[in-house]
Amino acid sequence: MGIIDSRADHGITLQTKDSSYHMAVDGYGYLRHLYYGKRLEPEDLFYLYRNYDRGFSGNPRPAGNDRTYSLDAVCQEFSTSGVGDYRIPALRVMNADGSRIADLRYVSHEIRDGKYALPGLPAVRDTDGDTQTLEVVLRDEPSKLTVRLLYGVFEKKNMITRAVIYENTGDKPIVLEKAGSCCLELPFGNWDLLHFHGRHNRERAPERVPVLHGIQTIGSGRGMSSHQHNPFVILCDRLATEDHGDCYGLMYLYSGSFRAEIEGEPYGSVRAVMSPGDESFRWTLQPGAQFAAPEVLMSRADGLTKLSQQYHKAVRENICRGEYSLAHRPVLINSWEAAYFDISAERILKLAGQAASLGIELFVLDDGWFRGRKDDNAGLGDWEYDPEKLPEGLDHLIAGIRETGMLFGIWVEPEMVNEDSDLYRAHPDWALAAPGRKPARGRNQLVLDLSRVDVQDYIIQFMTNLLTKYDISYIKWDFNRSVADVYSHLLPAEQQGEVAHRGILGLYRVLETLTARFPKVLFEGCAGGGGRFDAGMMYYTPQIWGSDDTDPIERLTIQKGTSFGYPLSMVGAHVSIAPNHQTGRTTPISTRAAVAMTGAFGYELDLSLITAEEQAEIRRQVQEYREDEQLIQRGLYYRLGEDTEGMDAFSWLLVSEEQDQALLTVVATATHGNAPLIHVRFKGLDPAALYELREDDLVRSGAALMNAGYTLPQLTGDYPAFRLHLKRVQNGAGKEE
Ligand code: DGJ
Repeated sequence: MGIIDSRADHGITLQTKDSSYHMAVDGYGYLRHLYYGKRLEPEDLFYLYRNYDRGFSGNPRPAGNDRTYSLDAVCQEFSTSGVGDYRIPALRVMNADGSRIADLRYVSHEIRDGKYALPGLPAVRDTDGDTQTLEVVLRDEPSKLTVRLLYGVFEKKNMITRAVIYENTGDKPIVLEKAGSCCLELPFGNWDLLHFHGRHNRERAPERVPVLHGIQTIGSGRGMSSHQHNPFVILCDRLATEDHGDCYGLMYLYSGSFRAEIEGEPYGSVRAVMSPGDESFRWTLQPGAQFAAPEVLMSRADGLTKLSQQYHKAVRENICRGEYSLAHRPVLINSWEAAYFDISAERILKLAGQAASLGIELFVLDDGWFRGRKDDNAGLGDWEYDPEKLPEGLDHLIAGIRETGMLFGIWVEPEMVNEDSDLYRAHPDWALAAPGRKPARGRNQLVLDLSRVDVQDYIIQFMTNLLTKYDISYIKWDFNRSVADVYSHLLPAEQQGEVAHRGILGLYRVLETLTARFPKVLFEGCAGGGGRFDAGMMYYTPQIWGSDDTDPIERLTIQKGTSFGYPLSMVGAHVSIAPNHQTGRTTPISTRAAVAMTGAFGYELDLSLITAEEQAEIRRQVQEYREDEQLIQRGLYYRLGEDTEGMDAFSWLLVSEEQDQALLTVVATATHGNAPLIHVRFKGLDPAALYELREDDLVRSGAALMNAGYTLPQLTGDYPAFRLHLKRVQNGAGKEE
């Protein structure tokens, strides 16, 4: 049973396969967080928390003369502000009288089968049929602000979702200045924060730091989840490793500005709060109105590897949707690094012909194909083909590509406009800009105001035309600048703080409409590389371009960081030319492929610039990827970094759930004379089974490979990669496979 209601102590326990989450209402009517950890049967856990007089901490009114009770010191399910808890609030309001107080007390709760709905927002789906919902109602009586805390319990997946519905059940407006999605308290222990930071061309680099006293904020005010910080954080025991130790993840299903705040508080507990928007967020709740805060996917595991594997499965099976979420993805070639804006029908058809002869399945025509798009200064908004570049039309080009046997895909950037475009000339007020101010440009473009329904409808319309008129199987949906000048011409001054979030809701409406209307089209997300690589977008696009940095050595860190939360099937990854366009580094094509194959695989280079041997190698790679694809997309992923640390190498392993196949990859980032050989220990194999090591002509037991390990042959040359396929030839019962 997923949710257990122990009426005796007013406790509620959320049970998943391996974890328990326990809350209870205390004698003063506050909803207390009591436990999240290894699974245990429900019992009264208030004994863990002893009250004593803590000096300056505020004592709430209902505590009467009891100075030992302070909201500032207890762990709460949902922290609020203005009532004597001085730690991070999940909620900040401005009431009609100007006060900023919300005293949230328990009102009621309800347990239901199935998953709650969160209309208009991406949400984890109940695909296993074992999900239950807990809804707890809290209320601030004076203002009548009602807060519905929603929990979805995914028992088999070890996942708990969190979301909040704010409702004004009073008769005066209430302004939400902060409308958090969840508050997680870890009452005891020493914790590290693992987060994923970066910049354009260097997204999601992992950084593990101790949680200190004070508040650490991971977030974005860029109107997109951003290259700089990913909306996924892990709190882990300071001693946690890949295999051991308490690890908790908070993954936000949200693509706009966000805040993940982590506070180490004076009495040793840690509080984490996730909320949408930045300091400019203001949402006016008129009487009767509701606001839904986006969903957070929370999980707990022993060790980082297990935590990642739980997230991989949940993202793949419960967040991604549509035909392509679990199916074969066509190996693609993208025109960007091959031609940039220098597109002609002749050039594209030549590249397509070469790609098809190597077994590549999908041709993607990137930026530069539409009217006025000679460079990145003009054209965005005018989504018709450029007759100068494609004199015989887009139809003709697509027919030529389809004749090669390949599918056709195309790049768009629907949320943007160049001032030098017919769209902007016709609708200057569709771009975000405040009256009397010249808006900041990014890549010489402006951002459309997606809080407006007419702008959303325009995007839906032109995309529908494009996808109906042409034979298009794939869309690359780009977003190439951060948002600024957040102002909508349709909203009054007091609602301008809503524009950014309304824009994200608008984007979700557009994507929901288009993906439902065109279920056979594969949508790949993109934002100047991986600037919107978040679980919100993953609900609509089952793959996202990982980074504009295609250098395999740079990608090692990017893809490693990404692997903590997101499955390999999500990460668009391509083999590009050497020397690499971003770093100037030269690497072997085998290494480029070994790294790109740890993702949704493709190519992005001018095939005329490589040798016949390299072309033959590409043909082999495409074949090999097809053979390994299921293992890559669905296998259990193990980072083996702890083995190769200090050896200038990255190593990772994929093992099928059935334990009958595995694939080890090791990439050396430097080679040394007379160097020690790299040694790794396998994980996740069946100890009693025998495995054939394809590239080494050996058969060894899972036990030997996991305990004694495996010593690699000497790796030489620049940036060598080593791949080893394992196949079970005899199972644990001694039977031949
Ligand atoms: C940024 C993307 O990440 C690139 O792959 C490419 O599509 C360019 N935009 C095109 O402008």
